[in-house]
Amino acid sequence: MKSDISEKLWREANQVLVGGVNSPVRAFKAVGGNPFFAASGRGAVITDVDGNEYIDYVLSWGPLVLGHAYPAVVEAVRRALEKGSSFGIPTEAEIRLAERIIQLMPSIEKVRLVNSGTEATMSAIRLARGYTGRDLIVKFEGCYHGHADGLLVKAGSGLATLGIPSSPGIPAAYAQCTLTAPFNDLEAIRAIFDAHAANIACIIIEPVVGNAGVILPEPGYLQALRDLTKRHGALLIFDEVMSGFRAALGGAQQRYGITPDLTTLGKVIGGGLPVGAYGGPAAIMDHLAPVGPVYQAGTLAGNPLATAAGLATLEVLTQPGAYESTENALTQLRKGIADIAIETGIPVCQTQVGSMGCLFFHEGPIRNYAEAAKSDTARYARFFQGMLERGVYLAPSQFEACFTSTAHTAKHLDQTLTAAREVFRQLA
Ligand SMILES: Cc1ncc(COP(=O)(O)O)c(C=O)c1O
Repeated sequence: MKSDISEKLWREANQVLVGGVNSPVRAFKAVGGNPFFAASGRGAVITDVDGNEYIDYVLSWGPLVLGHAYPAVVEAVRRALEKGSSFGIPTEAEIRLAERIIQLMPSIEKVRLVNSGTEATMSAIRLARGYTGRDLIVKFEGCYHGHADGLLVKAGSGLATLGIPSSPGIPAAYAQCTLTAPFNDLEAIRAIFDAHAANIACIIIEPVVGNAGVILPEPGYLQALRDLTKRHGALLIFDEVMSGFRAALGGAQQRYGITPDLTTLGKVIGGGLPVGAYGGPAAIMDHLAPVGPVYQAGTLAGNPLATAAGLATLEVLTQPGAYESTENALTQLRKGIADIAIETGIPVCQTQVGSMGCLFFHEGPIRNYAEAAKSDTARYARFFQGMLERGVYLAPSQFEACFTSTAHTAKHLDQTLTAAREVFRQLA
């Protein structure tokens, strides 16, 4: 596999970009080697600057549920761009995207569009605090909700990968307003409420953890959180930036039948352009300015390009069979890998919800971050490199999710499993 141009660009990138990248996990630190530079993408395949092709299971960390450069999305963005990229005054597409989100997630009556998942979670928490008049928030070990101060406390993903427990630059006073509990541990969360209930504004949770690998909620766990928050007047925020339109078409809240107070979204609703959103019942959302006193604003919020890409994406994804095809692709992959693991005698634990999943090099079960952290990360790194050499791009960290799209065909899955069989044999 040629890498001359990627290597040259990597040297140049390190001169002008911190660590050569604009988001830490892209630097491949957890798996070794240097990242390749993307030149183009079409469907399930990325072509790099040296002409190598990779079947892509990262999909820009989740958003590209239709694959790269889906024609209807490209066309929608092109048409929007020709009419003007941003106005800073209302456009019709904002209404249509909000309507589509509300239709798919009945817990939401009103939406606020923002520019990233981080903005969505930090704004939803401000709203929860403003609405309840309380300061404390509760999050779970291994859940990542973006990089806002106060949310980088025991966060998973890049932080776990880099071994940084928290980040310098965050005042201790902020971190003290964040209480953390292990995922799937009801005793721990009950103890937190016993001690602090009167001051807890909200629980924020990835209902399916996607940032410590993929970890599923145990039966009854999310319902217990729903009951606990209701009993104590705290809000329940489902961070569905990743699980939205992936755990099910209507997100994890649909799959598990739970109605959160607020939902945060991102990734898929921007179809690959920068976007985020949060929403909930009007009675809570109307505490936001300009109706209510909780302030939050954005120059490019709801801009025509992102809304066009998001609308076009959801339009296709809601057609009969489209969402199911993303889920089926991952199911086939998971089953194929399970057979290969048995053949080669390598202990693995695979998790899957809809079209997001993870292959842990650990016998499992994996119920929380501490268990995920026991995975054989060195073996994952060798697996990643072996697959990359064979033209399959997986998440460059044991603690990230893999995704499938409507563009992943039986041929892509066969190629992937053929590569996986070879690499597993080498690992055995
Ligand atoms: C569950 C979750 N919440 C929030 C975020 C932050 O979103 P963004 O990277 O768009 O700021 C992410 C990003 O991966 C995420 O997975």
